[in-house]
Amino acid sequence: MLLPNQTMAPLLILLLFLCLGSLRPTASADEQFSFNGFTGANLILDGMATVTPNGLLQLSNATSQLKGHAFFPAPLQFHNGTAAMRSFSTAFVIGIIGAYEQLSSHGMAFVVSKTTNFTAALPGQFLGLVGSANNGNASNHLFAVEFDTILNSEFDDMSGNHVGIDVNGLHSVAADNAGYYDGATGAFRNMSLVDRKPMQVWVDFDGRTMQVNVTMAPLQVPRPNKPLLSTTVNLSSVIDGTAYVGFSSSSGILFCRHYVLGWSFRMDGAAPPLNVSSLPSMPVTFPKPRSRTLEIVLPIASALLVFAVAAAAFVLMRRRRMFAELKEDWETTYGPHRFSYKDLFHATDGFSDGRLLGIGGFGRVYRGSLPKSKSAEIAVKKVAHGSRQGMREFVAEVVTIGRLRHRNLVQLLGYCRRKGELLLVYDYMPNGSLDKHLYDQTKMVLSWGQRFRIIKGVASGMLYLHEDWEKVVLHRDIKASNVLLDADMNARLGDFGLARLYDHGTDPHTTHVVGTMGYLAPELGHTGKASKASDVFAFGAFMLEVACGRKPVVQDARDNHLVLVDWVLDQWRAGKVTAAVDPRLGGDFVEHEASLVLRLGLLCSHPLPAARPTTRQVAQYLDGDLKLPELSPTYQSFNMLALMQDQGFDPYVMSYPMTSITAGTMSQMSDLSGGR
Ligand SMILES: *[C@@H]1O[C@H](CO)[C@@H](O)[C@H](O)[C@H]1NC(C)=O
Ligand SMILES: *[C@@H]1O[C@H](CO)[C@@H](O)[C@H](O)[C@H]1NC(C)=O
Ligand SMILES: *[C@@H]1O[C@H](CO)[C@@H](O)[C@H](O)[C@H]1NC(C)=O
Ligand SMILES: *[C@@H]1O[C@H](CO)[C@@H](O)[C@H](O)[C@H]1NC(C)=O
Ligand SMILES: *[C@@H]1O[C@H](CO)[C@@H](O)[C@H](O)[C@H]1NC(C)=O
Ligand SMILES: *[C@@H]1O[C@H](CO)[C@@H](O)[C@H](O)[C@H]1NC(C)=O
Ligand SMILES: *[C@@H]1O[C@H](CO)[C@@H](O)[C@H](O)[C@H]1NC(C)=O
Ligand SMILES: *[C@@H]1O[C@H](CO)[C@@H](O)[C@H](O)[C@H]1NC(C)=O
Repeated sequence: MLLPNQTMAPLLILLLFLCLGSLRPTASADEQFSFNGFTGANLILDGMATVTPNGLLQLSNATSQLKGHAFFPAPLQFHNGTAAMRSFSTAFVIGIIGAYEQLSSHGMAFVVSKTTNFTAALPGQFLGLVGSANNGNASNHLFAVEFDTILNSEFDDMSGNHVGIDVNGLHSVAADNAGYYDGATGAFRNMSLVDRKPMQVWVDFDGRTMQVNVTMAPLQVPRPNKPLLSTTVNLSSVIDGTAYVGFSSSSGILFCRHYVLGWSFRMDGAAPPLNVSSLPSMPVTFPKPRSRTLEIVLPIASALLVFAVAAAAFVLMRRRRMFAELKEDWETTYGPHRFSYKDLFHATDGFSDGRLLGIGGFGRVYRGSLPKSKSAEIAVKKVAHGSRQGMREFVAEVVTIGRLRHRNLVQLLGYCRRKGELLLVYDYMPNGSLDKHLYDQTKMVLSWGQRFRIIKGVASGMLYLHEDWEKVVLHRDIKASNVLLDADMNARLGDFGLARLYDHGTDPHTTHVVGTMGYLAPELGHTGKASKASDVFAFGAFMLEVACGRKPVVQDARDNHLVLVDWVLDQWRAGKVTAAVDPRLGGDFVEHEASLVLRLGLLCSHPLPAARPTTRQVAQYLDGDLKLPELSPTYQSFNMLALMQDQGFDPYVMSYPMTSITAGTMSQMSDLSGGR
C-alpha cells in the first residue's frame, strides 16, 4: 500500500471515498487515514477491544482486570532518511463510561509503539501499556498520551483526572488536569474524563522542534488555540523507524467502558478533521447518576413529608387505628419477642424528632425508654417493609438472632410489625456509632488504646457470629457506622444477620454508594454470595479505617478518589506502615499494636478470599496468640484492591503472573518471613 509519492494520495482518498461512502473509513496508504465511526474498519484488536454494531471502537467491556488494544494495521514510517523525525498529527474522540458517576477504572491512552504485542503489559494502573518490571525501560519504544482516571501515587500521578504524555512508561513527562483553554477568554475550563460525555483530543508532534502538543475539548466545543499540554520530547530514539499507532485501555477492579468514536491521523500535516455529526453515539448503559435520582426523590420526599404530617394529624384522631399492628397466629410462639406498637410509641414519645438517633440506609432509629422497667433504654429502628412475602421466615430469623448474646454484639430485644413497617428493638448504646467518634471534629479523639480495644471487640463479636454460636451468622455489613459504643466505650456490632431483610426493603442501592464501597469484597460482585471471607474483608477495611481515621474510599477536595488500602500499602512498601496511623493521635500509639492492626488489615483485604485469614486467625493475631506472618512481597504489585466491584476477577488476575495474586499466595505468606 505504500505510495510512490504524495501527489497520488488525494486521488486515492477520493477513490476510496467514492467507493465506500462517507461513513466508511478512509485510509490513504500509510500516511493518512480517517475513521468517522469504525464500522468495517480493519484494525488489529486484542483483549477486550471490539467494534460494536453501531461503529464504536470499544476498548474495554465492563470486565475487570483486563486490557484492550486497537491498532491501525500497517506500521507507519516515523523517520525519513537518517535521523530526522517526521511530524505527525492525530485527532480522536473518546468517551469513558465508568461504573459510578465520577468514578471509573484506570483509563486509556493513545499509543505510538514499535510493537502491537502487549501480552507482557499489565491491566489496572498500568493501562495495558507496560508491566511493572519494564515500566520506563527505554527498550519499550513507546510513546503515549494517557487519559488517567485514577490517582496512582506509585507513578506520581497528579490527580485522578489527568492527561499525561508518557515515554516508555507511566511516569508522565508532562501532565495536567483534564481541561481546555477557552478560545474567547483564554480561561482554563476543567473537564471530567469520566462524566460519560464524548471529548475530542488532538495530538500534534513537530519532528523538527520535537515539540508535542495535546489539546482537548468537549465534543461540541471547537478546537482551542492553546494546547492543554505542550512540551518537547526527543522521540528520535523512542520511535525506532516504523511504529504502530492506536489505543490502549485497561480496567481495574471497577467496571468501565472506554470508547473511541472517531479517529484521524496524518503524517507531515494536520490530521483531517473528524465529522462530528456522523460519529456513532455512546451508549447509556450504566445506571443514571445518583444525584439525579436524589434531585427527583427529594421534592417527592418533601411532598411526602407534608402529606405524612397531615396524615399523622388525621391518624391522631383515631387512636385505635394508630396503634394497629399486624399479628398472625403463627406469631404467638414468638410472644416474648413481640413488642406492642403502643409501648414503643410511648417509649419514644411518639417517635418524636427529639428522640431521633439517626437515619440509616433503611430507616430511622429512635431512642426510647420502656415504662415497665424504668431503666431499660432501647433503640427502635423503623424499617419500611412492603412485602409480606417471606415475613414468616424473617420473623423467625429475628427471633433467632434475638437469641444471640455476646458482649460485643448489640442485643436485639424483639420486634413489632405493622402494615408496611417493621420495628426492631435493640439495646440502647449511649455512645452512638463509631464513625461519629472517628470523624466528628467536635468529639474527643479516640485514643489508640480505645481503638485497639474496639478492633479486638469487633473481632470477638464477629468470631462469635461465625464460629462460636450454634449456627453460622454472617454479618454482611461490617463497617464503622454499624459498630456502636456502649457506656464503657465497648464496641458492639449492630445490625447483623439481617441484610436479607433489607433485600425486601426500600433502599437496595445503599450498598452501591461510594462510601461503603471499600467494604465490599471483590468476589461479592462476582458470586453475590456473602461468606465468612467477605465479612473478614470488610473487617480488614474496618481495621484500617479505625487505625488511620480515614474512610476506605475518600474523595479529596480535588475530586480524586483515594483508596485507603492502596495508601496503607504505599506506606508499607515505603517501610513504615505505621506512618498511616491517624495523625490526630499525635504519634501517641503503641507501635507494635498499630503495625499489627495495619498489616492484618492489609492481609484481610486480599482480593482472593482464600488468601485472607480465617475469622479465628484474625482474633488470634489480635490477641497475640498467633504471630502474624509477614506480608508477601507479592503484595508489591497490586493496587485498588479495596474498591468495590461488580464482578469477580480471580481468573483474570491469575493469568497475569506479574500480579502474583494466586491461591498459593497464602502459603507463600506463611513461608516468607523476610521483608519488613
Ligand atoms: C470482554 O472481553 C473479554 C476478552 O475478549 C471476553 O472474554 C469477555 O467475555 C467480554 N465480556 C463482555 C461482558 O463482553
Ligand atoms: C524528509 O522530510 C523533509 C521534510 O520534513 C523533506 O524535505 C525531505 O525531502 C524528506 N526526505 C526524504 C528522504 O523523504
Ligand atoms: C508477544 O510477546 C510475548 C512476550 O512478551 C511472547 O511470549 C509472544 O510470543 C509474543 N507474541 C507474538 C505473536 O509475537
Ligand atoms: C530493559 O529491558 C531490557 C530488555 O527487556 C533488559 O535487558 C534491561 O535489563 C532492562 N533495563 C532495565 C533498567 O530494567
Ligand atoms: C504547539 O502549540 C504552540 C502554541 O499554540 C504552537 O506555537 C506550536 O506551533 C504548536 N506545536 C505543534 C507541534 O503543533
Ligand atoms: C534527539 O536525540 C538524538 C540522539 O538520540 C540527537 O542526535 C538529536 O540531536 C536530538 N534532537 C533534538 C532536537 O534534541
Ligand atoms: C458529516 O456527516 C453528515 C451525516 O452523516 C453528512 O450529512 C455530512 O455531509 C458530513 N459532512 C462532511 C463534511 O463530510
Ligand atoms: C480545575 O480542577 C482543579 C483540580 O480538580 C482545581 O485545582 C482547579 O481549581 C479547577 N479549576 C477551575 C477553573 O475550576
